[in-house]
Amino acid sequence: MSRTSLPSWKALLNHAEKTKQSHLNQLFAEDSQRFNKFSIKLPTLLLDYSKNLVTEETMAKLVALANECELETWRKKMFDGERINRTEDRAVLHTALRNRTKKPLLLDGINITDQIESTLAKMKNFSAKVREGHWCGYSGKRITDVVNIGVGGSSLGPQMVTEALKQYSDNSLNIHYVSNVDGTQIADVLRPLNPEKVLFIVSSKTFTTIETMINANTARKWLISSSFDEKAVEKHFVAVSANKKNAVEFGITQENIFDMWDWVGGRFSLWSAIGLPIALDLGYDKFIELLEGAHEMDLHFQQTPLRNNAPVILALLSVWNCTFLGSQSQAILPYDQPLHMLSAYMQQAEMESNGKSVTWDGNPVEYSTVPSIWGELGINGQHAFYQYLHQSNNVVPADFIGSVESVTPIKGHHETLMANFFAQTQALMSGVNEEQVRADLKAKGRVQSYIDKVAPHKVHKGNRPTNTLLLKRLEPRSLGSLIALYEHKIFVQGIILQICSFDQWGVELGKGLANKIEVELHNGIINQGHDSSTRELIKYYQSTRA
Ligand code: F6P
Repeated sequence: MSRTSLPSWKALLNHAEKTKQSHLNQLFAEDSQRFNKFSIKLPTLLLDYSKNLVTEETMAKLVALANECELETWRKKMFDGERINRTEDRAVLHTALRNRTKKPLLLDGINITDQIESTLAKMKNFSAKVREGHWCGYSGKRITDVVNIGVGGSSLGPQMVTEALKQYSDNSLNIHYVSNVDGTQIADVLRPLNPEKVLFIVSSKTFTTIETMINANTARKWLISSSFDEKAVEKHFVAVSANKKNAVEFGITQENIFDMWDWVGGRFSLWSAIGLPIALDLGYDKFIELLEGAHEMDLHFQQTPLRNNAPVILALLSVWNCTFLGSQSQAILPYDQPLHMLSAYMQQAEMESNGKSVTWDGNPVEYSTVPSIWGELGINGQHAFYQYLHQSNNVVPADFIGSVESVTPIKGHHETLMANFFAQTQALMSGVNEEQVRADLKAKGRVQSYIDKVAPHKVHKGNRPTNTLLLKRLEPRSLGSLIALYEHKIFVQGIILQICSFDQWGVELGKGLANKIEVELHNGIINQGHDSSTRELIKYYQSTRA
């Protein structure tokens, strides 16, 4: 049955029409308890969602929708390992990777907890060996640099975390990431490195992703051009993959392949051995703290009634803002420098999961699904695109993410940063009307002609919804909770919107075409089946190149 036939859906449509006439200022004036009613305190973070265009009636209606969509049943199915990735017929068990209770979980008769624990033990042993200098390269020198070669989920997650937790690294190793098939990136990364001291991790669940394979082969040649011996590959390459056969063919020894499983989606995989660069950088214990933080969020998600359940609330608000109130994009705005890759990470997490237009039964969806996700560090954004957030015709709901304590306390900095953090959500909400603008200009002694000219430009309508996520401090545990919070938000959105969040068919079409065009670029024969634009572009490229 389509979601649009549910009584709660219809009630929300009506309610949205009324709500569109209201203003956040009015809602705050009418209810002094808004913050208490619309915020959630968790051990490592606070979520304030009171600056959304919602009332208690809205929240009750949204929770009713979640109930009519049988969210709790679906949640149980996910954690129990049912094959909820319907189009690929797979279980979705990234939560098992961080289940610190180590409770056995059977999938097709196999206890996957044992597999997870043995991979973790292997990561522990390996990361200690490399960090302590017991793993040596072909010439007997200790490893100083680790280069992770992977793309999408096999790069974004670990790289975002490596950047976010830099302050916790003891710098035993330098960690680098290569994801782009543009040779500029790998050349830049390798140029200053000594092949004798580099360890490559080829991270690819499928071990077929073309960009990753090309980069891995370039790295391999670079190593051999120094060692003059193919055997060196064994000492300088490890893999994280579900495709052992291809990894072995590449020259990586069986014992240096870390397992991946089909029940872990790429964009949810940083908790698996895909997180190996994190363990190498921070040490295994801090990697475990990250998992523990995520596990705490898993428990919150599983055990808390929907009305106070942070991921559920974030998802319902997204559905409310996007599907019912009509917003088309959502900004992720971190006010913590180390979180500078968070928006890029969230783009993959949410857009690759829910950027779809058919339901899980294959029928067209009759409503807007998820917004496009974008963003940048808040302060940089303030001096770039916040103009649009404050005064454009399009309302962009935004998540503001900051920390009470800075990881790098330098006198004066954090107060200025956080003053901006608080000021922006207030300004986006309350705005300033023409009357206030005129009064202000008058008080400043401006002449009437100037006031008439400028006043309309200084009006801010406000009423722009924001969530505030305030971490106590950015550390492995709180970061783990934050990421898991968004992962579960994405899952809930998928259930409400009837979307299969765990496949990504939309990336296949372009991949397939690229493979064909690559052949044409190599042999110079252009396929006549191309449209005239594509054909002429390829022709221009080839003739100009020649
Ligand atoms: O092209 C998209 C994608 O399939 C992502 O979902 C995935 O994270 C990425 O490519 C990398 O895939 P792999 O780990 O198999 O190389």
